[in-house]
Amino acid sequence: MTQRLDLRQQIDPQHIARAADIIRGGGLVAFPTETVYGLGANALDAEAVEKIFVAKGRPPNDPLIVHLAAVDELPRVTASLPPIAIELARVFMPGALTLVLPKANAVPANVTSGLNSVAVRVPAHPIAQALIQTAGVPIAAPSANRFGRTSPTTAQHVLEDLDGRIDLLLDGGATTIGVESTVLDLTRTPPTLLRPGGVPREDLEALIGRVALTHGEANDNAPQLSPGLLSQHYAPHAELVLCLGESPAVLEKIKQVAGQALADGRRVGLLLANDDLKWFGELPVSALGLGNEEDLGSVARNLYAGMRALDGQGVDVIIARDFGNVGLGLAIRDRLMRAATLTLR
Ligand code: TXA
Ligand code: MG
Repeated sequence: MTQRLDLRQQIDPQHIARAADIIRGGGLVAFPTETVYGLGANALDAEAVEKIFVAKGRPPNDPLIVHLAAVDELPRVTASLPPIAIELARVFMPGALTLVLPKANAVPANVTSGLNSVAVRVPAHPIAQALIQTAGVPIAAPSANRFGRTSPTTAQHVLEDLDGRIDLLLDGGATTIGVESTVLDLTRTPPTLLRPGGVPREDLEALIGRVALTHGEANDNAPQLSPGLLSQHYAPHAELVLCLGESPAVLEKIKQVAGQALADGRRVGLLLANDDLKWFGELPVSALGLGNEEDLGSVARNLYAGMRALDGQGVDVIIARDFGNVGLGLAIRDRLMRAATLTLR
């Protein structure tokens, strides 16, 4: 059984010490970061790292992020630090930015799936900070979900996926950002955004200039129909249909798709902006408002919990609206596109 320690009211140093002991002893501890919960192991212990892949059911070719307590520990796991890394670290670490850098020999091959680069992050969350500091070792941690499921933003989500498969769970309540960190590859020129996330691309570009994109989500001319085009990730159990476009056109589209699904006898859930809810009052659907359109922070924070909640209600299909590609909108769109079996515009 997985033990859950409650740190929501206060960060008990004895609880942290216990978690740190487990990490140093080669065990697995799930812990909150400000983005999503991570599933941690000692990053310098290949056997411990192997347990992460087993617990998650994660394929070995998907590398992990190494978490450090402070920027000055970067040389423990990286072979070199280009000036641009130091510049980015000064502004965005601790925080929701992950940098891909040349890997130090000390990092076992299974952490990086055999790559010569390593992904590094300094989380800001006080529980993550306390755990890494007390353990005294870098902590490799992917999101604490079973492979292919949405990332956990609460301790309950972690238990839904991993109860009995990990030693300990530190419960710090709901995470504040709600989508994963931004992954920026500094081993390529120009720096390349591998995953949009908690730090918006615009904020990076304001500091370092142009950042290249590797994914199609920033493009409003995305293909009309993209089933199977993007790797299926972050997926709820229900089928997810993403409707691109701006309101009110996107709401008309959603109404149409929902009407068709209901006519087919399917149970329907909707992921919307708060202001959209009034348009769907008369439909027999489970409609969730993720937040206001102007407050993408709350939309991001509620996104995964919304998918899990609709799954919990047993809907057959989730129809989600798009929130644009500005700021956190890009990360929200990326996650919705990966979860979607069908994207309509
Ligand atoms: O917010 C987050 O980043 C959370 C918290 C726990 O820190 N972690 C997380 O880890 O989302 P994970 O494993 O779910 O996603 C890590 C991403 C993957 O897309 C992986 O391919 C990429 O980082 N990555 C890791 N190492 C890499 C490397 N050496 N080169 C390129 N991509 C890498
Ligand atoms: Mg993940």
